[in-house]
Amino acid sequence: MDRTKILAIMGSPRINKNTNIALESILNEIKEDNCVVTKYNLMDLNISHCTGCEYCGIKEGCTQKDDMDIIYNEFDNSDIIIFAAPLYFNSVNSLSKAVIDRCQKYWSLKYSLGEDYKRYDDRKGIFISVGGAPYTHDQFLGSIPVMDYFFRAVNADYIGNYFISNTDKVSVKDNKDVREELKDIGRNILDIKEFHIHK
Ligand SMILES: Cc1cc2nc3c(=O)[nH]c(=O)nc-3n(C[C@H](O)[C@H](O)[C@H](O)COP(=O)(O)O)c2cc1C
Repeated sequence: MDRTKILAIMGSPRINKNTNIALESILNEIKEDNCVVTKYNLMDLNISHCTGCEYCGIKEGCTQKDDMDIIYNEFDNSDIIIFAAPLYFNSVNSLSKAVIDRCQKYWSLKYSLGEDYKRYDDRKGIFISVGGAPYTHDQFLGSIPVMDYFFRAVNADYIGNYFISNTDKVSVKDNKDVREELKDIGRNILDIKEFHIHK
């Protein structure tokens, strides 16, 4: 049987801080005998902003040629997408948002050009985010509709959020309970049901 392809996107410009440690807590527990994990640090890639040129609404594809081609290829071939992005100004940070905006090509493919895109494939989307400020119930609410729209664009079922507050005071590295819970998600990645966790 083919191994499940898991794409992990790490959207923090800080390569080994809270977002990455949260993501790695999940990835380290994923069993390699039935899954293959590919991870990208967005800081290592060269991805331009969407210019709104409207090309993708007329012809399939994107006029910009940069490392987004790598990510497009991964989106086209992954079964599970785990997107980890820090909370900046109550939403996903701009490094991550640049990738999301470039997914306009999928939206256009479906709704302007009337083509199918993995429409019938069963795949999952998971969003991990960290916020430096202390917990408030609405802290991550700005990012949810963004990620919802993104996962719809790439035809993934948005099955879970894991949000961690107060990372400017208590790092994910020092938060053993959170890391244990994230490890659990990694261990059960193939069977996991909907989850909405905010710590
Ligand atoms: C430009 C900027 C904007 C931020 N805005 C928020 C915010 O709106 N809410 C919040 O809780 N934390 C905010 N933070 C704090 C980050 O979410 C926090 O430092 C987080 O740990 C960053 O992720 P990292 O540790 O993986 O880099 C902001 C940080 C920066 C640099």
